Amino acid sequence: MPEQRRSLLVTSALPYANGSIHLGHLVEYIQTDIWVRFQKMRGHDCTYVCADDAHGTPIMLRARQEGITPEELIARVSVEHQADFADFLIGFDHYSSTHSDENRELAELIYTRNRDAGHIETRTITQLYDPEKEMFLPDRFIKGECPRCGAPDQYGDSCEVCGATYSPTELKNPVSAISGATPVEKESLHYFFKLADFEPMLKKWTAAGHLQEEVANKLGEWFREGLREWDISRDAPYFGFEIPDAPGKYFYVWLDAPIGYLASFRQYCQRSGKDFDAYWKPDSNAEVYHFIGKDIIYFHALFWPAMLTGAGLRTPTAIFAHGFLTVNGQKMSKSRGTFIKARTYLEHLQPEYLRYYFAAKLGSGVDDLDLSLEDFVARVNSDLVGKVVNIASRCAGFIHKRFEGRLSAALEQEELYTTFVAAGTEIARLYEAREYGHAMREIMALADVANQYIDEQKPWVLARQEGAGRQVQAVCSLGLNLFRVLMTYLTPVLPAMSEKVREFLQLASMRWDDIAEPLLDHRIGKFQPLMTRIEADAVEAMVEASRENLEAAPAAAISGPLAEEPIAETISFEDFARLDLRIVRIVRAEEVPGADKLLRLTLDLGGETRNVFAGIKSAYRPEELEGRLTVMVANLAPRKMRFGVSEGMVLAAGPGGSDLFILEPHQGAQPGMRVK
Ligand code: MSP
Ligand code: ZN
Repeated sequence: MPEQRRSLLVTSALPYANGSIHLGHLVEYIQTDIWVRFQKMRGHDCTYVCADDAHGTPIMLRARQEGITPEELIARVSVEHQADFADFLIGFDHYSSTHSDENRELAELIYTRNRDAGHIETRTITQLYDPEKEMFLPDRFIKGECPRCGAPDQYGDSCEVCGATYSPTELKNPVSAISGATPVEKESLHYFFKLADFEPMLKKWTAAGHLQEEVANKLGEWFREGLREWDISRDAPYFGFEIPDAPGKYFYVWLDAPIGYLASFRQYCQRSGKDFDAYWKPDSNAEVYHFIGKDIIYFHALFWPAMLTGAGLRTPTAIFAHGFLTVNGQKMSKSRGTFIKARTYLEHLQPEYLRYYFAAKLGSGVDDLDLSLEDFVARVNSDLVGKVVNIASRCAGFIHKRFEGRLSAALEQEELYTTFVAAGTEIARLYEAREYGHAMREIMALADVANQYIDEQKPWVLARQEGAGRQVQAVCSLGLNLFRVLMTYLTPVLPAMSEKVREFLQLASMRWDDIAEPLLDHRIGKFQPLMTRIEADAVEAMVEASRENLEAAPAAAISGPLAEEPIAETISFEDFARLDLRIVRIVRAEEVPGADKLLRLTLDLGGETRNVFAGIKSAYRPEELEGRLTVMVANLAPRKMRFGVSEGMVLAAGPGGSDLFILEPHQGAQPGMRVK
């Protein structure tokens, strides 16, 4: 019995408008796109919308830094993002921005309904304020010494050295990462969403099958910790929407971000004539799905259903969280060249290689997923080129040359074809359940069977035998019919290749149910190359192009991922000239008991010795440092830390972890020399 036609609205998380799309993001957009294409080819009414997430302090500051308006920045990034997505064959039905009129209206609507129902309250809080820039500082834009272990250069919310979490007002010697000024404490009125009002509803919702099991368990923990109210306002200057009846107060970016799903869909409805309310009324029959990364579960599984309920709208049918991408078993790294942008990939490789590889590794859970570059090359070449394309390339030539492109009128082994079609039920179930890896294994097992059939029948041998012409046609016709079934199953993953196959086989469509009828006495077109092997050189070139040149990067003590690091505005040459940079020799390097990230260095400045604590333990073993030359800031005021006094600072650069590099002067340099 054919499945009933469903109406689905599907979203992926909205990428921030201040950075490029990278392969990590693509795990999500590819995962979602495969699911959407699958639903569409099954005949369902499925709509896929997304948008750029355009608000917030980082976007405002980045625009300032580039000397343009936030509107100019987000317009430029929107074009880039959409080109990247299109080239990875992500088939959004609509792509918008959270900085739209529709989003403003919907954010105001959802907020005022919640407010009028009593779910918003106001309270004065104290926050750190940058007196130079005249703005409140988000936690990530404040640095200082950890209140627990004294480690320098820690963010306002947590310490990377000892793992402590704290409020930014507890940091010792805090500085603004934007201006370098010492922040002051300042009071301000904030607006809060009373999440706890929704506790009974959320507990019920969480247990009602809308979430993956691991996610539901995580929520259980959060319930036990207690639901705290959520600060949804930010003070001017802020790039976002002003809160109704609250001049100078703006919605925090995460309030209007998920509402962007609705706003993008509303624009699509205006364009397509779809009925917005039919999807969003509380008793809607339509299904709504959000694909997200595991880092943003709290927002989607707690705040979002609560806000929707408070506004009298329906809640999502399900939230599908996925894990994070690692490359070659490690976090993506700029210095290793594994922080690969979508565009860099596209300059070297075909998008469908990655779509297939991710599909082959994706399951329905929240486990992280590894892109092993060696395995990537081997897997794609062996499965897609070696198995799938091989079937067609071995059969097409004979049909074309000997039978004027016509397939035989009956199937040579009907049961083989029937088996392939029957396997579609399980493969469809796996797609629906987002068990793509399992689905790919099923499909490749069928490809093995098809190849085995051709190997046994040996059409190339038959072709030389007198009177075996019909048999050659029959074998190759079945081969191509099996190939068509496989390519139908692979269509959600390989839409461009599927389109080439549709043309080659001269078919009207590649829908799931089309394969019920085999192609008999059917004329096919000329075979064209469908996919070529991945060359390992291309992968190497991509990694090389992604490798950040650390020698060219400014030498500064940087921790944390460079991309997310707020960069302070420019300093004058005079400011720079005040730094006393000296060549030093590391005479001793030793571990510091109780410190996870620090090494104690004894530095020789050419006569004078200094004791310096450096957060480079994750990158260097003490013994490999001893005897080496490096560069230090010699006139930094001594700082008292938990483990002792640090008399200066060693310069290192890199994204962090094992990727942190101290500077290494030429061996001819002498300790004590000034660095110009
Ligand atoms: N703007 C928010 C989402 C708002 S949704 C209402 C955001 N943006 S993001 O650009 O940081 O991330 C977009 C999506 O990509 C998120 O779901 C995130 O989890 C996912 N990923 C970002 N980096 C990733 C990896 N390295 N690996 C897998 N997914 C990753 O969060
Ligand atoms: Zn600490």
